Amino acid sequence: MLRHSLIKSSRALLARQRPMAMASRALSSQAARSPLNHALTHADVDADPKTLDIIDKHAKYTLTTYGRPPVVFTHGKGSYLYDVGHREYLDFTAGIAVNALGHSDPEVARILFDQAKTVVHLSNLYYNVPAGELAEQLIESTRASGDFDASKIFFSNSGTEANEGALKFARKVAKLTAKQFGQEEDNKFGVVSFVNGFHGRSMGALSATPNPKYQKPFLPLVPGFKHAPYNDIGAVDSFVTPETCAVIVEPIQGEGGINVATEAFLKKLRSRCDEVGALLIYDEIQCGLGRTGKLWAHQHFSKDCTPDILTMAKPLANGFPIGAIMITDKVAEKIAIGDHGTTFGGNPLGCAVASSVLRRINTPEFLDNVQQTGQHFKKRLESLESSLIKEVRAKGLILGLQFHVDPAPLVALARERGLLIITAANNTVRFVPALNISKAEIDQGMEILQRAIEAFEEKTLNVEA
Ligand SMILES: Cc1ncc(COP(=O)(O)O)c(C=O)c1O
Repeated sequence: MLRHSLIKSSRALLARQRPMAMASRALSSQAARSPLNHALTHADVDADPKTLDIIDKHAKYTLTTYGRPPVVFTHGKGSYLYDVGHREYLDFTAGIAVNALGHSDPEVARILFDQAKTVVHLSNLYYNVPAGELAEQLIESTRASGDFDASKIFFSNSGTEANEGALKFARKVAKLTAKQFGQEEDNKFGVVSFVNGFHGRSMGALSATPNPKYQKPFLPLVPGFKHAPYNDIGAVDSFVTPETCAVIVEPIQGEGGINVATEAFLKKLRSRCDEVGALLIYDEIQCGLGRTGKLWAHQHFSKDCTPDILTMAKPLANGFPIGAIMITDKVAEKIAIGDHGTTFGGNPLGCAVASSVLRRINTPEFLDNVQQTGQHFKKRLESLESSLIKEVRAKGLILGLQFHVDPAPLVALARERGLLIITAANNTVRFVPALNISKAEIDQGMEILQRAIEAFEEKTLNVEA
């Protein structure tokens, strides 16, 4: 019975993947007739036969919640990944803004190994050395580099969990202080998030992520969540009301299409939160930790734009799972023993790696370099030629290339030429490479991208004709 259902699920997955493979084959044969054929260096049809066996294993034993291309990567180095057939790909995705120091960084590998020989996990029943050191480093470097009056850290295992904890903390603090604002504690539970925001897929984080595709199958969600337009100062007062306990916002929306908040918008959120006794949460999971060329993205704005809570995750340990919630004293003093917990959060292994990653990212030289390579990347995007391109949006090494049409097919067209990219909302291709990517690597990627865009144009215009 079990075997029968496994075989069935495998066939179902392959059937679902077949159109993708067939589409890419169709694309390849179409490309074979095209003058752009010479550029198809990594065609899906040329995939190593082992690739299909590995995909088959996935089909039998893992739940299919991701639509993945028929490629299996075995290893990486710096900004490059290699597939089963030893084909090399330039990676402009970095594990979705995670591998800030690139793949297989020797120092990260050394620390993982050394710490694993010492102690991997203790649980939060006991103190450990690396978690204390990382907490100190995060707080002190945040205070030294900007105006956010951070005071305490809570470690989690992912971005979603960091946001869940942040929402819980905000609810508790706002309820306890409601009386000072002449409000009812029982009504003080509203959360405001923003259109095109992304905060995670667990019930609280999903309730703050107003994408109908993600939310609809799981309704009803957590009560009290409202979704306001991003960067719309005029709408803030009507959304953030005396019932609001938290406003959660990305200073730069990643998945939403690389939308940068305006200073006036963040200032307005800060002052409105202060007026109604709500806490301001910055989700810097994708845009923080050096990606914009400053330690935190909000540090590009004035001191009137600081949050009460900041969440981080992705690049903190360069790919080892970790997240964290950074809070001010005002929040910390209201959170008591037993209010929140985790088995793995703050484990010595992740914290030891994160300490080293943070030490390397948070130097003036490293951050200046991110700004410079970011400017180079932006210029190269702006010089791409295509009537399908609408706009480039960027801050440091988080960049978006918006098209007039859905650029989803461009992902495969680039991959089959050896370049890895991802999309975001609003017809946007997103670029979140390793923060130590070189200008030469960026140039190499741009040449591939230009050719892929030409193929995309040809394909799009052929369909339209
Ligand atoms: C801004 C933002 N918040 C939260 C998350 C969720 O983080 P995780 O996937 O680590 O749970 C993401 C992930 O893409 C994100 O980009």
